[in-house]
Amino acid sequence: MGTSSRLQLQRTDFQWTGLREKDFEMDKFVIRGGNPLLGTIHVSGAKNSALPLMAAALLTDEQVILENIPQVRDIQTERNLLAAMGATVELGYGKAQHRTIIQCDKVLNPEASYELVKTMRASTLVLGPLVARFGRARVSLPGGCAIGARPIDLHIKGLERLGATMTVEHGYVEAKADRLRGGEIAFDKISVTGTEDLLMAATLADGDTIMQNCAREPEVVDLANLLIKMGANIEGAGTSTIRIKGVAKLHGAKHRIIPDRIEAGTFIVAGALNGGDLHVVGCDPSHLTVVLQKLEEVGVKITKTADGVRVQSEGSLKAADVATEEYPGFPTDMQAQFMALATQAEGTSIITENIFENRFMHAQEMLRMGANIKIEGRRAIVRGKTLLSGAAVLASDLRASASLVLAALVADGETIIDRVYHIDRGYEQIEEKLKGVGAQIRRIGELLPKRAGVVTKG
Ligand code: UD1
Repeated sequence: MGTSSRLQLQRTDFQWTGLREKDFEMDKFVIRGGNPLLGTIHVSGAKNSALPLMAAALLTDEQVILENIPQVRDIQTERNLLAAMGATVELGYGKAQHRTIIQCDKVLNPEASYELVKTMRASTLVLGPLVARFGRARVSLPGGCAIGARPIDLHIKGLERLGATMTVEHGYVEAKADRLRGGEIAFDKISVTGTEDLLMAATLADGDTIMQNCAREPEVVDLANLLIKMGANIEGAGTSTIRIKGVAKLHGAKHRIIPDRIEAGTFIVAGALNGGDLHVVGCDPSHLTVVLQKLEEVGVKITKTADGVRVQSEGSLKAADVATEEYPGFPTDMQAQFMALATQAEGTSIITENIFENRFMHAQEMLRMGANIKIEGRRAIVRGKTLLSGAAVLASDLRASASLVLAALVADGETIIDRVYHIDRGYEQIEEKLKGVGAQIRRIGELLPKRAGVVTKG
């Protein structure tokens, strides 16, 4: 099968075909660097909002309709997770391709298996809604991952505070409660999915819940907005203290997911490389305040427009230090992309990773492309500007892969990025979007011709 027809299939049907994830695991990106990115690029819906919002559909027997769903692999995984429990999940086709309709009117099996959880840690988000509505949940423990240990103790302790009996056995966490009761939860540490999981659980608890030291991410607010539409009583989402008055039942709702601020940030960095002039459309600049400020510090011209952000760069960038923090601080999910930019800035940039303990895997690959980076514990010291040269590199996790795409866009010659299934987890058609603004990027793969023609409503 020719490359163009294969790409056609990729572009239109990637997540929605009968093809298995495995069929795409050998895909690679081939990128030739040097072109400035010029024109308009569109931002998709936020994956990290879509995941908890889909889980929220477990809280009602009525339909939950979500719009602006990104077509990425994690969404397909979440669909499989909900469907395995007995939920009906329709992912849109044709014009409705960014919509999903979920109905959990006959959930029989409140379990999330290791097979599903291991590929997507956010599967833990079903724990709270399942025990709140069905009185029982059994979810595989996620285990370690490329960027660190990622425990779920905060979810477990929080549910205990709401009266659930929690047991951890055979690699699974099990939660039981006839009905959750409201309580006080003070998180030891700020956790995004921890806040979301407990927020969902508390909506159906008996009585009032106060949650302190909550995550303040826009995705938490988006979830609260959906839950409020479903009949929940919530105050304070987006601040550190959230108050929830439990209700007996929630109903269906329709909601449009917020834009993906990390995808937007990735494109903004891409525009800043090679002296580009890029209009990143459909994002919400208010979700990117610190990232945009940092880019201005680096010497990039940022203009907020009616529908997004225009990024212009003359090509000369200066070093700046960055330390990741919980929202509204600089996002850990933008750290790797910033590192790619720092290799192109004059001077020394110190990048401190405060959220995850092992999130510098991309640095090893950038070194292989000629970057000057030294890792000292949680700090990466990047000395620039270095001329990067194309090489064969390996994507290790979602955001690391994005940073390698960025590094490849400025590198001299051709870069081949292996294991791009990581990037497919969270970026919708990234190669098509980048190609549309002048990048030389193409996907190559090893999809067998006999499977390439299979298109079903999987
Ligand atoms: C979410 C995002 C992810 C982002 C991360 C930090 C989703 C689906 N994913 O992940 O893209 O990188 O926030 O912004 O929204 N922790 C514990 N115990 C717990 C839970 C977390 O110690 O029970 C620790 C983690 O190991 C980490 C820190 O808390 O060091 C923050 O993690 P958390 O905010 O929970 O990340 P996620 O919600 O998994």
